[in-house]
Amino acid sequence: MAKKQNKGKSTVSASVGQAQRVGIFGASGCGKTTKARSLIKPLKRVIFFEPLADDLRRLQSDDGFKPVIGLNNLLKEVRERFTTGFKLGYYPTAGAEDKELSDLAGRLMAIQSGYGFSHNAQMTLVIDELDLSFPTGISQRDPKNGFKNLCCRGRHAGINVIGLSQRMHLIDNVFRANCSAMYIFRHSEPADIDVGVKILGRENREKLRALKNFEYFYKQDEKIFLKA
Ligand SMILES: Nc1ncnc2c1ncn2[C@@H]1O[C@H](COP(=O)(O)OP(=O)(O)OP(=O)(O)O)[C@@H](O)[C@H]1O
Ligand SMILES: [Mg+2]
Repeated sequence: MAKKQNKGKSTVSASVGQAQRVGIFGASGCGKTTKARSLIKPLKRVIFFEPLADDLRRLQSDDGFKPVIGLNNLLKEVRERFTTGFKLGYYPTAGAEDKELSDLAGRLMAIQSGYGFSHNAQMTLVIDELDLSFPTGISQRDPKNGFKNLCCRGRHAGINVIGLSQRMHLIDNVFRANCSAMYIFRHSEPADIDVGVKILGRENREKLRALKNFEYFYKQDEKIFLKA
């Protein structure tokens, strides 16, 4: 049973059964990372895929994340601390973000293969700068991409996904098409505003263009709320 949703409230912590896919999109400094950090605060098992060293340090000092380098090290931590829980900040290899996200997603799906729709067995993968690791066209160039599979089938494995990006239009459609909820903050690039308008409807174009930092549209189940 899923909790009734309030305005602007994510389903990540409230969900039982199928896990959620959440997109957080907006220009630099609009509040994406802060929103993601607030969503994951109550969660027991979180991996934060963070290509930015400064943000990783902030996750470590402010939110108690353990920084990890190397996929094998990360998966070892996940397995060893599954019962007690974990907050792991993964720093991907520069230039190999797409391959590492694909591998990580595939291996998390394998770890979660015994997931029986139990709320207690869920985990959450947060990906900052998702356009680096899941860029437009990757799902066609690489049909076996592990993150593509996670987007399409991970719900049944109890893996929540939260993807962040400054550039909505540079992320492969497979992610957005599978989002159960989206936070759309201020955008400055016309190509991103166009994608935002496709998601929110033409009637919201001017409001989208007028958003200030920390204001956003929240869309879930075809319902749209403006948090301003
Ligand atoms: N709702 C808010 N009210 C006031 N300050 C906020 C709010 N959200 C974020 N901030 C502050 O604004 C700054 C930018 O926020 P944040 O790092 O979350 O943005 P971002 O969208 O992730 O930026 P970037 O794209 O550069 O990563 C931070 O100093 C943060 O503390
Ligand atoms: Mg950020």
